[in-house]
Amino acid sequence: MAVSDNQIGLALEMRHVSKRFPGTIAVDDVSFEVFAGEVHALVGENGAGKSTLMKMLAGSFDDYSGDIAVNGKVVTLHSPTMAKKFGIGMIYQELSLARPISIVENLLAGRLPRKGPFLDKKRALDMAAGLLKHVGLDLDPNLPIEDISQHEAQLVEIAKVLGNNPCILVMDEPTSALSREEVQRLFEIIQNLKNRGIAIVYISHHLPEIFGIADRVTIMRDGKKVATRPIGEITREEIVQMMVGRSVKDFYKRGERSIGEVRFRIKNLSRFGFFHEVNIEARKGEILGICGLSGAGRTELARVLVGLDRADEGSMELDGKPVSGSSMADFLDQGIAYLTEDRKIEGLALRLAMDDNILAAIVDRLSAGSIFSKSKGGPAVSRLISELSINPPDPSRTVGNLSGGNQQKVLLAKWLASEPRVLILDEPTRGVDIGAKMTIHASIEKLAREGCTVLLISSDLPELVGLCDRILIMRKGHFIREMPWSECDEESLLLAANGDMGRGAGAAGTTAKVGA
Ligand SMILES: Nc1ncnc2c1ncn2[C@@H]1O[C@H](COP(=O)(O)OP(=O)(O)OP(=O)(O)O)[C@@H](O)[C@H]1O
Ligand SMILES: [Mg+2]
Repeated sequence: MAVSDNQIGLALEMRHVSKRFPGTIAVDDVSFEVFAGEVHALVGENGAGKSTLMKMLAGSFDDYSGDIAVNGKVVTLHSPTMAKKFGIGMIYQELSLARPISIVENLLAGRLPRKGPFLDKKRALDMAAGLLKHVGLDLDPNLPIEDISQHEAQLVEIAKVLGNNPCILVMDEPTSALSREEVQRLFEIIQNLKNRGIAIVYISHHLPEIFGIADRVTIMRDGKKVATRPIGEITREEIVQMMVGRSVKDFYKRGERSIGEVRFRIKNLSRFGFFHEVNIEARKGEILGICGLSGAGRTELARVLVGLDRADEGSMELDGKPVSGSSMADFLDQGIAYLTEDRKIEGLALRLAMDDNILAAIVDRLSAGSIFSKSKGGPAVSRLISELSINPPDPSRTVGNLSGGNQQKVLLAKWLASEPRVLILDEPTRGVDIGAKMTIHASIEKLAREGCTVLLISSDLPELVGLCDRILIMRKGHFIREMPWSECDEESLLLAANGDMGRGAGAAGTTAKVGA
């Protein structure tokens, strides 16, 4: 439904709202409106205030200022329960599902059907199955959440929120854990919700997605609203310019690097059912890309390369010596570090300070006997905060209070602090804004220039093409092709990952996309 057809159907009106945290005005006098049946994109750099604005709506704060009206009525949203009551559903940037309990318990938390004093199990399972069907998931609702993949968990979260029949639905980077095929499915779900008159706020750093799905876009910078525009009346460049307050050019600038001898040699490595007979020779100072479709086995391979999982066959050598040990810590001692896809589960301690997180991998090196000296790590922490422009640059800040993109930078800082010989990066720039992405790319290049070997797993094709010296294409657990950067472009990678070995053939008809 076009916005102009629907002027009367204002589902949400935020008038002059502000929210302060000690030392920061996260949202500064913002007015924001969404129509029923509209998809309204909200964009801005990391820390611009997007999540805070929406958390205000979801009842996370009892001390915001300004007015919020839902369906024309001013409401007080001082708790999540109040927000739910007024029909506000929020899918958070960081997944909020409780892990050890089952899908059905998650989906129906707080409203499990009862028969007398007992749980009506059959009805619960039927309700859960219905909700899962809504998001196109065919899963056994009895499974524990920890047994399903991250993208499935993301869809379960969406199903859960939809189960409350919201009239306003906020999605804060809903696609950060989804492959492109799954994003397509999500878009169908969104289209459906829109047709039902639900107002949708969609936060994303991925501008092509916004042009694909949104009716209007609001741009925020430094806690303030810069503009709201119909999507047909603005270009990608204009959005970026408004986000960063300057125009961004020269996105990828390839620096000179010298590539040395073979550092990391992987011979006939297999983990049955995941990947088979993988051979890699990665050199000192080289950035080696790994590209593949969803389910190609990239993350499984990474997990074996860093000691999280065992290989069934094959060997690994680092600077001519066999890699030994049975844990991530053993591998890290030998100089192999891993930036995970999922910063919450495997990467960061959200309750701890930034410096504790950055130094977490090198506690042993900073300790004499059993005494850990944090101050010895101080200079490294300061250097990394400044190199990665982590904002706010305060090492004592609790990591859970940083914006999503800044959490990602802290995670990278942690592995850079370990001065690895091999760094394996799995989707290093997911959820970070365009400026932060450039910063992260510059640090990856600098690391390679200093001699580190980098294995880069990414679904972001321009990132692979822009950064890598060579790209290996993985499909269904096998390496099927290698391309030097001089021969790479996005289209040929996409075709190769889809199993199309020749250039040109079938290009126009190829619809499958590269995903996580
Ligand atoms: N709980 C908190 N305590 C203190 N400061 C906070 C808290 N939550 C957010 N902030 C600060 O408020 C500002 C806005 O953060 P917010 O999370 O809204 O950004 P964002 O636009 O969602 O960024 P991203 O794209 O990185 O997710 C940032 O400066 C952030 O550090
Ligand atoms: Mg955010």
